[in-house]
Amino acid sequence: MPRRTAAADLLKLLRGAGGMVSGELLSRELGVSRTAIWKQISSLRAAGYRIDAIPSQGYCLATEPDLLDEATLRTALGNACLIGRRIVCCGETGSTNADAFSLAEQGAEEGTVLLAERQLAGKGRLGRRWESPTGVNLYCSVVLRPELPPYEAPQLTFLSAVAVARAIQITTGLQPAIKWPNDLLMNGRKVAGLLNEMNAETDRVGFVILGIGVNLNMRADQFPADLRTPATSLLLEYGAPVSRQLFVVHLLRELDREYRRFQQEGFGPVREEWARYCNAFGREVQVDVGSNSLQGPFIGIDHDGALLMKLSDGRVERILSGDVTVI
Ligand code: BTN
Repeated sequence: MPRRTAAADLLKLLRGAGGMVSGELLSRELGVSRTAIWKQISSLRAAGYRIDAIPSQGYCLATEPDLLDEATLRTALGNACLIGRRIVCCGETGSTNADAFSLAEQGAEEGTVLLAERQLAGKGRLGRRWESPTGVNLYCSVVLRPELPPYEAPQLTFLSAVAVARAIQITTGLQPAIKWPNDLLMNGRKVAGLLNEMNAETDRVGFVILGIGVNLNMRADQFPADLRTPATSLLLEYGAPVSRQLFVVHLLRELDREYRRFQQEGFGPVREEWARYCNAFGREVQVDVGSNSLQGPFIGIDHDGALLMKLSDGRVERILSGDVTVI
C-alpha cells in the first residue's frame, strides 16, 4: 500500500523547485505513486493553493493561500501583547465564540484568541446566522476577564468596534463608519459585525468573549442574496485583496492598546474615539424600536452602551436597542 504523501513534504518540494517540477521527480522524492501525488495536489488546490499543471512537464506552485498561522502571528505580536498571548487557529469549527466560551469556562487565560478559516454555525446578533465561507474573512473571538460590573460589559463592544475600525484604516487607508451599537460600515454597507457574550454573577463579570467577524476578501458572488443588511468586504471597497494574516496582527495590536487604555483610564477615551467613527453621533437621527420610532439629536452613549437622545420636550431618552437612521 503506498504511503500517504504528507502535504507538507509535497509543498516543501514545490516551493523549493521555484518553478516547474515533474510529477516523476515528486513521486521519486516522496516514494509514492504519481496517482498519490495527483490526489495530494488536488487537496492542496481545494485548500486554496494555486498549482499549475502542464502535461509532460509537471507542476508549478503559483500562489499560496493566505492561511492564518499561530506561530507567525505570535512572532509578529511579540511578548508585550496581552491580547493574543495565546492564539488558537483552526480550519473549521461551529463558532469561534462558542469555542472561546467553553475554553474560558475551562479557565483559558485573558487574551486567548481563537481564529477559524471557516465557521459552520457562525453566530450573529439576535440569533441570526453569520455567513462564514472558507479562507476569505476573519472569524475571531477573544477571551477577556475584566473587573467590571455586568451592566458595564457593553463598553467592551464599543472598544472592539474602535479596534476594528482602526485595523481597517491601517490596512486600507479607508475610514469605516460605526453604526450604533456595533456594526461597521463602508459606503453604507456592513463590513464587520461584533457579538460579545458574557458569563457573569450578579455583581461581577466572570469573562467576556469578544466575537469579531470582518468581511475581508469576500467576493460579491459569495454574499447570500437574502441578506437583511446590504454587505460589503474590504476586497470590494479597497479594490484588492488584503492579507488576512496582516489584518489580524493590526486588529490584535489595536485591541491590546485599547484594552490597556480602558483598564487604566476607563470608558472615557473609548467613548470619544468611538464617537469620532460613528456616522450619527451629534446628528439628528430616527431610532426605530419595534413599531415605535423616536426622533432627535444623538447626544451621547451611556455607561451601559445606551444611546442618549434629546427629545423635543428637553428630556433625554435612553435607548438600549433599535435601528438608527441619520435624518
Ligand atoms: C452581527 O450580527 O453583526 C455579529 C456578527 C459576529 C460574527 C462573529 S464571527 C466570529 C465570532 N463567532 C461567531 O459565531 N460570531 C462572531
